Amino acid sequence: MHGTTESAAPRHAISFPPVEPETVRAEQWTFDLMEDGVRTSIRAHDYPEIFRRPGLYEQLFHERLRCASPRTARDALLSELRDHGADIHALRVLDLGAGNGMVGELLTAARVVGLDISEAARDACVRDRPHAYDAYYVADMTDPGEDLLKQLDQWGLDALVCVSALGFGDIPVAAFVNAYNVVADGAWVVFNVKETFVADDDRTGFARLVSGIMGSGALRVHRMERYRHRYSIDGEPLFYYLFVGRKVHDLPLDPGWGGHAAGGAFPGRTLP
Ligand SMILES: C[S@@+](CC[C@H](N)C(=O)[O-])C[C@H]1O[C@@H](n2cnc3c(N)ncnc32)[C@H](O)[C@@H]1O
Repeated sequence: MHGTTESAAPRHAISFPPVEPETVRAEQWTFDLMEDGVRTSIRAHDYPEIFRRPGLYEQLFHERLRCASPRTARDALLSELRDHGADIHALRVLDLGAGNGMVGELLTAARVVGLDISEAARDACVRDRPHAYDAYYVADMTDPGEDLLKQLDQWGLDALVCVSALGFGDIPVAAFVNAYNVVADGAWVVFNVKETFVADDDRTGFARLVSGIMGSGALRVHRMERYRHRYSIDGEPLFYYLFVGRKVHDLPLDPGWGGHAAGGAFPGRTLP
């Protein structure tokens, strides 16, 4: 079930009503969609509403706002695999926050399992990219339950990717920790976060997550890259950090763990 699906999706009439800069920064903006003469206002992170319209996610985030993250994550992982003589064909990847399959589709040389909290995301993936995943689970990784953990365990997962899904009311720290603990020690781990999420004064818990992952030695970081994730609706470039590393050991489940690593929340340097 692997391959790329050519999109025959309809074009959508998208417009952005004016909003305060703070609303844009907090990703609380909405956009307007004209459909058959009717204007609907949709929140930027209302994925069920977005995914149920074929091609809307791609047109909004990828064409209009130039999101580069799926390809950046894929390229970084491939480059690290090459440098370490590892073969993508042998990998079994968990794609956390899989959405409509844009990341899975780029990794189809591996066996890839998608997981998302949203039924609409899975439906959109089946509709638009039926070949992206070997399996797709709809679940909230904040509270996965024994059954799901057993099923995931059977895949022998040795890679975790989580692209553009941490923060902004999407995947919380606890869900990421649970997914991290599902993949094997030695697994490749790829994730991105907004640059402000790794700042000392971050209040979302992701600074603690990032510094805790590194400070606890749970991840050996191979690559840490600041890059342009996409543009904001105001035309400002939004920078994210992409991390690629290998899992050393599980993370503690208590989201309060870790604190800040020595030297501050964020090491601010490229690690070996
Ligand atoms: C911006 S989309 C990213 C989709 C995909 N990774 C990509 O790069 O195109 C974020 C996804 O995270 C999912 N999500 C939010 N909270 C989640 C949770 N607790 N567990 C699993 N997925 C979640 C949303 O449903 C949405 O599909």
